[in-house]
Amino acid sequence: MESIAILYASQTGNSESSAEQLHSALSASHPYLRLSISRLDDWVLSTTPSSAFPDYLLVISSSYGVGQPPLGGEIYRAVLDHLAAPPPGTPAPPVFEGVPFSLLGHGSRSYPTFFRNPRALAVGMKALGARLVATSSCEPASASSLLSPGCPGVGVADASGETADDEEAVRLWIEEVKAKLPAVEAMYASESPSAAAERRSKSARNRSLLLRAAEALMPEEVAAKREDLVSAGVLQGGGGGGADVGTCRFIVVPLVLGAVAVALGVRMRGVM
Ligand SMILES: Cc1cc2nc3c(=O)[nH]c(=O)nc-3n(C[C@H](O)[C@H](O)[C@H](O)COP(=O)(O)O)c2cc1C
Repeated sequence: MESIAILYASQTGNSESSAEQLHSALSASHPYLRLSISRLDDWVLSTTPSSAFPDYLLVISSSYGVGQPPLGGEIYRAVLDHLAAPPPGTPAPPVFEGVPFSLLGHGSRSYPTFFRNPRALAVGMKALGARLVATSSCEPASASSLLSPGCPGVGVADASGETADDEEAVRLWIEEVKAKLPAVEAMYASESPSAAAERRSKSARNRSLLLRAAEALMPEEVAAKREDLVSAGVLQGGGGGGADVGTCRFIVVPLVLGAVAVALGVRMRGVM
C-alpha cells in the first residue's frame, strides 16, 4: 500500500477537524505513506485521466439539514445515490471495485434523521464495489439493517451528548484505523508489479467514470465548484463543461451513465 486519501465533508467544522486529526496521527505514525486530505467533492473534481483511486479511502462526514450531505459532499452523495440505484434489472456499476475504505460519521441522535448521510455514503460505496474495512464502533439499531450482517462497522461520533463523548469516539476511531493498516497493507502485499500496474490503470478508468457521472448529473454544480477550485489554484482552468444544462439532464446523463456501465463491462438490460 502506498497512498491513503482522507476525504471529508463538513458543515460546522467537526468532520473537517476529525479529518485533520486523522491526518496528523497517520503522518506521525506512518510517515512513509503518501497521505492526502481533501473535501469529497474537490477530490472527485480533481480527477485527472491518470489518477487512480488511492489504496485506502478514509471518509469522514456528517449529516446536515434533514439527513443531507454537508458542505463539500453534495456532489459525491448525489453521484453515489444515482449510480447505486440503477434502473431495475441493471446491476450497479462497480466504480469503486475492490477499493478498501473506512468511514467515520458525525451526527446527532437528537435528529430523527440521525446518521442518514454517513450511512448513505457507506451503503452507496459498498453497492459500487468498495470494500468496507470495518471498525468496531458502530451505530447499532438502524444502520445494521442497511449494512449487514450485524454491526455496520463504521465509526459514529454522536454530538447529542446522549451516548459517549464524540471527541472520544473520534479518538478511538483513529486508533482503530491505525490498527487496521496492517490488514489493508496485506491486501496488496502479494500483488505482482504487473498486477499492480493493471489494477491502477483500471482504477484510473473507474475514477474518471465517477467524474464523468458527476459532470453529467450535476453540470451546474460541477462547473461552479470547478471555477472555485481554479480560483483557489487547486485546479488548472480550461477543463470540463460544454453542453447546456437541459441537454445534460435529459440526454447526456443517460448516455454517460450508460457508457459508465458499458465501460465497466456491465451488460445492459432495459432502458438506460
Ligand atoms: C441545522 C442542523 C441540522 C442537522 N441535521 C442532522 C441530521 O439530519 N442528522 C444527524 O445525524 N445530525 C444532524 N445534525 C448534527 C450534525 O451532524 C453534528 O452537529 C455534526 O457534529 C456536525 O458535523 P460537521 O461540523 O462536520 O458538519 C444537524 C445539525 C444542525 C445544526
